[in-house]
Amino acid sequence: HLISLIGVPTDIGAGARGASMGPEALRVAGLAQVLESHGIEVADRGNLAGPANPWQPPVDGYRHLPEVVAWNTTLHEAVHAELALGRMPIVLGGDHCLGLGSISAVARHCREAGKKLRVLWLDAHADYNTATLTPSGNIHGMPVALLCGHGPAALTGIGGTSPAIDASVVREIGIRSVDAGEKRLVHEAGLEVFDMRYIDEMGMRHTMEQALKGIDGNTHLHVSFDVDFLDPEIAPGVGTTVPGGPTYREAQLCMEMIADTNRLASLDVMELNPALDVKNRTALLAVDLIESLFGKSTLMRKTSPRS
Ligand code: ARG
Ligand code: MN
Ligand code: MN
Ligand code: MN
Repeated sequence: HLISLIGVPTDIGAGARGASMGPEALRVAGLAQVLESHGIEVADRGNLAGPANPWQPPVDGYRHLPEVVAWNTTLHEAVHAELALGRMPIVLGGDHCLGLGSISAVARHCREAGKKLRVLWLDAHADYNTATLTPSGNIHGMPVALLCGHGPAALTGIGGTSPAIDASVVREIGIRSVDAGEKRLVHEAGLEVFDMRYIDEMGMRHTMEQALKGIDGNTHLHVSFDVDFLDPEIAPGVGTTVPGGPTYREAQLCMEMIADTNRLASLDVMELNPALDVKNRTALLAVDLIESLFGKSTLMRKTSPRS
């Protein structure tokens, strides 16, 4: 891999300030050095720039709509440029509204390169709200719906094609908080959701086997990792904690099984909020999990014990 780190220091779509410090916390936790220790070449592209957070109430159901458009347009171009160079972008968020700019660029690249796209959305939340359904107006609760074409053209059209993706390419994992109206839209869209009930009953191994099913040699696998996916007992440094998330072991297995596919081609690390963290432990945990995502294993095994 040739990896490019892209810092996006904004909390423009979030309900709490602080995710804007996420990129630096991940750097301080040693993300680049950990990847390099596995022989991976890493270029840190530094941080993108965009409008400040004016901290205003929602207008017509959206908070900070023009600022969210600006950040995501800039991110879209940056991610697409890295993919066009044959590199693997890792987006250091920033709040999860940035999934829109990142994944719309990945989708555009897949169209151009004739690749099949699979998106794994690791999150406590479905992020499938719209202006009328949202309880908060916070756009970090809307990126999956926006990517699937639900929302204003200024957002859904970033990258030139609306919808950017079809709901059928998405697998949501770890979900345990979905708003009432959002639930209906998720159902209508036929979104494939592996919620915590599913993981409890079936186990993480079976969950990941299902979520990764159908991935082949021509698949571009994108992982959008909202750090609030993790149980808040181990990952307190996020703005919207929800109890009952994956344990350390479950999260490790999730990452290892993704690594085993050898198809990971782009990654978002979102919602890390150092203002709410304890001695950067959530950032250190995220880096530890990303190490597994890039193939760290205890033994020299090249494949899983299942095979
Ligand atoms: N569902 C809630 C909302 O729409 C919370 C969304 C949290 N999203 C996130 N990316 N942390 O306001
Ligand atoms: Mn391209
Ligand atoms: Mn979330
Ligand atoms: Mn999210």
